[in-house]
Amino acid sequence: MGEKWVLMKTAQTPTNIAVIKYWGKRDETLILPVNDSISVTLDPAHLCTTTTVAVSPAFQQDRMWLNGKEISLSGGRYQNCLREIRTRAREVEDKERGIKIEKKDWEKLHLHIASYNNFPTAAGLASSAAGFACLVFALAKLMNVSEDESQLSAIARQGSGSACRSLFGGFVKWIMGKEDDGSDSLAVQLVDEKHWEDLFIIIAVVSSRQKETSSTSGMRESVETSSLLQHRAKEVVPKRTIKMEEAIQNRDFASFAKLACADSNQFHAVCLDTLPPIFYMNDTSHRIISYVEKWNRSEGTPQVAYTFDAGPNAVLIARDRKAAAQLIQRLLFYFPPKSDTDLDR
Ligand code: DP6
Repeated sequence: MGEKWVLMKTAQTPTNIAVIKYWGKRDETLILPVNDSISVTLDPAHLCTTTTVAVSPAFQQDRMWLNGKEISLSGGRYQNCLREIRTRAREVEDKERGIKIEKKDWEKLHLHIASYNNFPTAAGLASSAAGFACLVFALAKLMNVSEDESQLSAIARQGSGSACRSLFGGFVKWIMGKEDDGSDSLAVQLVDEKHWEDLFIIIAVVSSRQKETSSTSGMRESVETSSLLQHRAKEVVPKRTIKMEEAIQNRDFASFAKLACADSNQFHAVCLDTLPPIFYMNDTSHRIISYVEKWNRSEGTPQVAYTFDAGPNAVLIARDRKAAAQLIQRLLFYFPPKSDTDLDR
């Protein structure tokens, strides 16, 4: 084996938005959730991570760069993902270039990883979901791993829970699983991206500030102190997940919107029920909810669903293009942009 070669693979992975939220772990290290969750994967043209992974005998250690800046790989989550994927690595041969990597070589070879988000990290939308999903997928390609997307999702899950849902397009369910080793806690695709093409997703950036309480520590505190979280996980989500799956299968927007809004609101209620309480939404988020609720009521049937993650930004899902256009008009009316704003963007 010559010492000069570098072998590379690149992958691109979109982020996903939960419509039935994951909030709470039953195992912190393996990242096993207390309930199932369902998400919609965004169009990779808009919000995605692109990751290039490279291997070379010349590399002295594993290293990673995020948006051009080197970051540490020493954290447990990175280490778990790298270890899991390395144990599944297989022989790789590039005959043209005379490169052959045996299965056992992967333990000694080091990796360089470069990852970019196509959205500004400062927009407060930076998500570990696309990042870990993309890292695991790119490494699986480089190392000729034979596992399918669901099996890879169980590895991405160990980087960040929500990442497991980004291995598929369309609507995706993260099955919480029962096993202690996490082997059955993985993502499956419910329907692909062509199933419900009418939907339009608009993200209203309310604040670009970094959130004060990370999802990881927030959900830990909720598990420790919120009795509403226990009730939600045991009684509410199992039934709601079944109804949500039906709504998606039938493209039943009225039911979909009702369930998604209720689930977002309950997640934030759990945050309020946490000690000390966690406030992710702000006054602007609350105003957006009120405007959408009023509009939906006046139309007699929902036009738009809202959902909020661990921050104040609104994810608005419009039933079709017309509703999306009206939504933008309404947002501009209620939140007039400053006079120097470029409205083409
Ligand atoms: C509110 O996946 O970021 O977005 O597993 O600790 O990395 P860790 O948490 P993360 O939590 C996401 C929480 C959420 C809801 C969701 O995406 O389901």
